[in-house]
Amino acid sequence: MSDLTKIKNEFFIKLNRKLNLSELNDIKSNLFGKNGLITSQFKKIGSITENERKKFASDLNILKDELQNLINVKITEIQNAEINEKLEKEKIDITLPERPFVKGKIHPVSQTIDEISSIFSEIGFNVEEGPDVENEYNNFTALNTPDNHPARDMHDTFYLDKKKQKLLRTHTSPVQIRTMLNNKPPFKIIAPGRTYRSDSDQTHSPMFHQVEGLHIDKNINMGHLKGCLEHFIKEFFEVNKIKMRFRPSHFPFTEPSAEVDIGYQFKNGKLKIGEGDQWLEILGCGMVHPNVLKNVKVDPNKFQGYAFGIGIDRLAMLKYGINDLRAFFDSDYRWLNHFGFDPLDVPTNYRGLSR
Ligand code: DAH
Repeated sequence: MSDLTKIKNEFFIKLNRKLNLSELNDIKSNLFGKNGLITSQFKKIGSITENERKKFASDLNILKDELQNLINVKITEIQNAEINEKLEKEKIDITLPERPFVKGKIHPVSQTIDEISSIFSEIGFNVEEGPDVENEYNNFTALNTPDNHPARDMHDTFYLDKKKQKLLRTHTSPVQIRTMLNNKPPFKIIAPGRTYRSDSDQTHSPMFHQVEGLHIDKNINMGHLKGCLEHFIKEFFEVNKIKMRFRPSHFPFTEPSAEVDIGYQFKNGKLKIGEGDQWLEILGCGMVHPNVLKNVKVDPNKFQGYAFGIGIDRLAMLKYGINDLRAFFDSDYRWLNHFGFDPLDVPTNYRGLSR
């Protein structure tokens, strides 16, 4: 067997083993390196007799090309195998099942506002909004609460400038003024929203929520007010019977004025609305004062009506058994998860408000 055939056979044996790149490089330099097998054969050419030299040189060149080609093919093969292996390892399995979808919850105050809006919408009230930053005129003066009126002090107002012209509204009543100034009677609106007073303990928060109601038309009287509130309380607490009591009170913007209490009792550790002989104050109301109507250019001899203001947070606490007002504003996700509502269950009267 000639030297070249031997080299070739040995090469094939080696090449057919499982090789990595560095092992293949060893084989390559073993053939073509400085003292490599093929290199040594080239060195031999000079010492070969002339008539054999040509054939030997030609065979050697053919062998050299053949081996080099095979090595190059093998290099590509090994590189491809390495890439494929890497791709296989790093493959992203897009068939992974989706993670459970974590839904957000509707805050009990938002839920309560939606419920209130739903109940009043059904009996013809429109929902209005006003800004949290109010002017002194809308918040007090136009509501028949002039400078030095004691009611101003009772409101613990957050003023926003030295002249006391801008403030955080202390109640939603200024929306009455905005609505009547910008429209023509009759008016039948509610206005839920944020209100602010400098007050903070277990039952008071510096920011809280109220809903204002206003119904102005020809021949509206206190009977309409009573009927409207009774309907609302029954619907809101989802009960057929309700005990209500109107207590004489005073608000500068209504005459006469009343505060409304609802009857309740504790039964088996649970608060029951509409039964028992305990009373709980939930809102202020009255017949809109003629001065307020004059301030918004409505003729009190032609139009009159009632207004009311309800504390939303307190209603939410009563209905959903929440006993600390401050929890509403803690942004504690666990609390919200427990007391919050499904975003897809929009409250409606016909489907049920809170289930
Ligand atoms: N604005 C009053 C308050 O915050 C609540 C109120 C009482 C509103 C009587 C009214 C009303 O519209 O007629 O204490």
